[in-house]
Amino acid sequence: MYTSKHVHTETTMIQTDVLIIGTGIAGATAALRLAENTNLRIALITRADPHDSNTYWAQGGIIHRGPDDNAEIFMEDILAAGAGASNPRAAQILAEEGPALLENILIEISKIEFDKNQNGELNYGNEAAHQRRRIIHVGDGTGAAISKGLIKALKSKPNIQWFTDATAVDLITYPHHSRDPLDTYKPITCHGAYVFDRKGRAVHRTLAAVTILATGGLGRIYRNTTNPPGARGDGLAMAHRAGASIINAEYVQFHPTALAVPGSEGFLISEAVRGEGGVLLTPDGHPFMQDYSPEWKDLAPRDVVSRAIHHIMETRGYTHVLLDIASHKSVEEIQKRFPNIYATCLKFGVDISREPIPVVPAAHYFCGGVQVDEVGRTSIKNLYAVGEVSCTGLHGANRLASTSLLEGLVWGHRAARDIEAKLAVSQPRIPTRDEIPAWDESGLDADPDPALIQGDMQTIQNIMWHYVGLVRSGDRLSRAIRELRHLQNEIETFYRVTKLSDGLIGLRNAVETALIIAQASRHNRQSRGCHYRVDSVKGEGDRLL
Ligand code: SIN
Repeated sequence: MYTSKHVHTETTMIQTDVLIIGTGIAGATAALRLAENTNLRIALITRADPHDSNTYWAQGGIIHRGPDDNAEIFMEDILAAGAGASNPRAAQILAEEGPALLENILIEISKIEFDKNQNGELNYGNEAAHQRRRIIHVGDGTGAAISKGLIKALKSKPNIQWFTDATAVDLITYPHHSRDPLDTYKPITCHGAYVFDRKGRAVHRTLAAVTILATGGLGRIYRNTTNPPGARGDGLAMAHRAGASIINAEYVQFHPTALAVPGSEGFLISEAVRGEGGVLLTPDGHPFMQDYSPEWKDLAPRDVVSRAIHHIMETRGYTHVLLDIASHKSVEEIQKRFPNIYATCLKFGVDISREPIPVVPAAHYFCGGVQVDEVGRTSIKNLYAVGEVSCTGLHGANRLASTSLLEGLVWGHRAARDIEAKLAVSQPRIPTRDEIPAWDESGLDADPDPALIQGDMQTIQNIMWHYVGLVRSGDRLSRAIRELRHLQNEIETFYRVTKLSDGLIGLRNAVETALIIAQASRHNRQSRGCHYRVDSVKGEGDRLL
């Protein structure tokens, strides 16, 4: 099952109480909460800069509680968007605890200034499938503001040790890395991770009483995506190799509106644009969403809007559709509410205050993940997962817009509280240095060939886009699995004979992640939410075109 190329020569080893892998809203919140206990030592690792996360790229906002809103209505919306597959208990936790935690962690502690109206009250926005205006924002750069606020608050904590440019390679788990054969009969237990220092080009054993996976999503395994470069399924693949339970992996959410201009690379056009009145049009100017969702029209759940766009593009041969906000808001309103989208589109030659925006769907969010409970515990002992890499069941088969930041916040907080309580009662034993095999690359001469890494990554992205995308079938999925298996063999061989690099680690994880999704998609023959199969077995949750 789990193998890694290690022998006993490497010397560096770090020991900590809690190792957190990832610095988006979920990992950062967990770190902030844990660091309040000054007796705890926390190691925070990130493969690039701490701001390099899906959180930073989030535009629309985060859910609070609107003036005419309550937890029950919010919960109703989560469950409706989730197409019958959302875990009601997770929805209840989010709806009941979310707003107070947002105020405490983001507004009071991290001092994030959300937009206010002329009366100094929070300005509530709307997005698809919400019955109430309840989304607070910082212009159209909410994620960036949250990320900066949290990282700044974390930097003042003396009990956090930072490791940037550090890519986790694999979790350290027993019995896989144990020298004691009798550990085979005990539950799988996590003791930290092998971490690749990208600058020093060495792998360190980072040992911890508890490890939290907060590595984010996987959009980059698709050709078109709104996600940043690190979103390649690293945490999911590591957890899978270690034997963690993974659920709902067929539910990959596509955002309906990524900018479709050459060179703009999946730049997100926030759903808030439709929330503020934007209307989808065919390239010849006809609104079409009422034909697909007479009740919600342009604010239908994301899976419905993405499939409608895909359908109209495919049947009419369009390369994109249009999103018109210019006819519905003044130039000043557009520039004030969407400064980042306005400026970026202008850079690509589209003035959104005067003309419609060319858009296409793109892979956006992974609704499945490493199975966790109400406090983020995975099926592996001493391993927690929070944020997009985890699956609380909240999103079911289709995530309600702007719930993900709040989920990261709530489960980051809950995991931290649970870990603190657990460590107060008894500290899991951290293995000694002699117990964990060190990593050694001696004998491996070759540096990885970037052309091979890039070529294989593009192959994965194309397979996923065409065969495991918005519209799936048994034949397409079987073909994807065959091709991905072949590629995985090639990549594994390459991995074993080549020195490590961040790109190689990511490629190995990407192909593993792609297979997890393709296999779950082939296994589930019923269309539901964002998993749509043309050869679907009919069922209650179907929300077809
Ligand atoms: C958006 O701004 O459209 C993205 C919000 C989300 O993914 O929840």
